[in-house]
Amino acid sequence: MYKFEKLARSIHQMIEDGIWKAHDKLPSLREQSELSGYSLMTVLNAYQELEAQGWLYAKDKSGYYIAERADLEINSNKEILPAQEKIQINSVVFNYLKDTQAHDIVPLGSAFPNPELLFNNKFMQLLSQHAKRKNSYLNHPNMPPGNLELRQIIAGRYQLQGISCHSDDIVITSGALDALNLSLQALTQPGDFILLQETVFYGAWQAAERLGLNVVTLPDDPESGFDLDAFEKALKQYPIKVCWLMLNAQNPIGYTVSAIIKKKIAQLLFQYQVHLIEDDVYQELNFGKEKPVSVKHFDQHNMVLHCGSFSKTLGMGARVGWVFAGSYSNAIQHVQLMSTLTVSPLLQNALVDFVAHHHYEKHLRSLRRHLDQNKKRFYQELKGRLPEDCQIHYFPTGYFLWVELPESMDSQQLYIDLLEQKISIAPSLLFRPKHTAQNFIRLNCSFEWTDELATTLDQIIYQIKKNKKA
Ligand SMILES: Cc1ncc(COP(=O)(O)O)c(C=O)c1O
Repeated sequence: MYKFEKLARSIHQMIEDGIWKAHDKLPSLREQSELSGYSLMTVLNAYQELEAQGWLYAKDKSGYYIAERADLEINSNKEILPAQEKIQINSVVFNYLKDTQAHDIVPLGSAFPNPELLFNNKFMQLLSQHAKRKNSYLNHPNMPPGNLELRQIIAGRYQLQGISCHSDDIVITSGALDALNLSLQALTQPGDFILLQETVFYGAWQAAERLGLNVVTLPDDPESGFDLDAFEKALKQYPIKVCWLMLNAQNPIGYTVSAIIKKKIAQLLFQYQVHLIEDDVYQELNFGKEKPVSVKHFDQHNMVLHCGSFSKTLGMGARVGWVFAGSYSNAIQHVQLMSTLTVSPLLQNALVDFVAHHHYEKHLRSLRRHLDQNKKRFYQELKGRLPEDCQIHYFPTGYFLWVELPESMDSQQLYIDLLEQKISIAPSLLFRPKHTAQNFIRLNCSFEWTDELATTLDQIIYQIKKNKKA
């Protein structure tokens, strides 16, 4: 931890302990420097960090003062609803994605399943057949809300799960990220409050930063995956407009929330008139017999916009997703026509054939089986090697393992050290606010077990042990 972060943390603690109250003036930079023994620059950096997090505000030539939100949050139950903070994650994610792109890096930090498992020959054949047809490539009916047949097929898949859905409810998007972003943009204005899980896919933080939204975070609940009491408290306490939640094979932690809790979430959303954008990109990657249900399943009042995608089952080249938008379809198309416009007609046409002729279900069965096998093997190998003070959070869905390192460890440093050895891991800073514990990593365990993978894992363990000692 840098010196300025240490100082910022101790001032923050004093605010939490009620020593500093809203609008109190902090010691000047010089006074603070004398008091704390830190340099003027360190004090300035600490004050600026707290200002960026919304704990302080600066008055021209007069100095730094405690912000209103400090009182607001200290008076609320801070254990249940941790501080919102000014989000600054875009450059962290940008740098991470750039740094980990090189082809010679072992992609254990990747968000995509093993591409070998996603590649499907039949889908490629259908794509090439459509590529030879002018109409498949140029036809207009693929403009928003997207190819009608594909929307009918997706609506049919919802109906098979017992969810009433019509093709008009569906908007085809460029992957799930587009679906999530368009939904959030259609439902919010800058300055609105949204609710996110404390540890969540970085796309949610990025969207909130880009749209200038205030974020209230829901603490992680490793047992059930979701703390209903804290959720209700948040809905009562804050003027939350939209929640963005992931409840199936949650990225990065991996848990799946029970149907009972999802039903209750749907009831609370209606009671408090709050919308949910439900990120369900991994819904198909279950290993049991049944697909887990979504909150959408229990949504009687169109409070839930449910987002899915083919990119996590057919590869990043299949950038086709959708949102079950219901009556918000038009609002979403408005935003779409000003931004991502349309999705490749070629992909949409090939998907229609692929899904309609049951190739997709066959592909999913094989994908699930391989992911299940690879994850179990990776877990066993990792468990056998990890030091005892590390904990693996294992859930039987998806293709991630969330690993808790000793509290004293900084996963960002581990990430930097491993990147030098051409290994990528995903450090917790990508998924949770800066002020929270950062001793977690996400590992992609969708790869087949090989000698190379064993060597990589040994290198990771060696580095963990080395950093633990440092
Ligand atoms: C949890 C989660 N949601 C959404 C997305 C975006 O999906 P897509 O690639 O379909 O845009 C990702 C991609 O990594 C993800 O992990």
